[in-house]
Amino acid sequence: MARLVILGSGRGSNAENLIRFFKGHTQIEVVGIISNIADAGIFQIARDNDLPAEHITAKTWKENPDSPLHLLKSWQADYLILAGYLLLLPPYIIEAYPDKIINIHPALLPSFGGKGMYGMNVHQAVVESGASQSGITIHLVNEEYDKGRILFQAICPIQSDDDAEKVAQKIHKLEYRYFPEVIERYLSERL
Ligand code: GRF
Repeated sequence: MARLVILGSGRGSNAENLIRFFKGHTQIEVVGIISNIADAGIFQIARDNDLPAEHITAKTWKENPDSPLHLLKSWQADYLILAGYLLLLPPYIIEAYPDKIINIHPALLPSFGGKGMYGMNVHQAVVESGASQSGITIHLVNEEYDKGRILFQAICPIQSDDDAEKVAQKIHKLEYRYFPEVIERYLSERL
């Protein structure tokens, strides 16, 4: 069994979708949730699904490596899945999970990536640029924001009257459709 821990900072709709997808899966299971935001919606998703969840602050990640590492070890985490997770992971985590951390970015990297490019900021920037398309990028995580090896991209068209909210809806549809199966494919090639 590959054991996944999901990290998220927001509502957790991608986490919910992943939990649903992998429920009853023969080779992959979601075993825990981590958030850096104490009241993030993702904690409710964890409770609804009887999953253990922990709040780890940016300060703890930075100053107390033993605590997150110990938690991940106790959950026997094999892979970390970043689903709307806004913090840059510290180097010791990247080292502990080489090619085992997967992120979803709500735009077509390398465009609209990097520091500050998250959530609605991304969609706003895409709309303001006048781009005729956007999409999702699923990629491995390294020490830099949004620079790891790309595993998958999917595109959606943008109409001239789409606002950031409309783009976000289109992106969410792509995320729900593809994120679980891209993780499944990547992991099954490694099992
Ligand atoms: C998603 O669009 C994800 O790609 C982005 O933040 C959003 C998180 O939404 N980085 P949710 O918390 O999964 O509902």
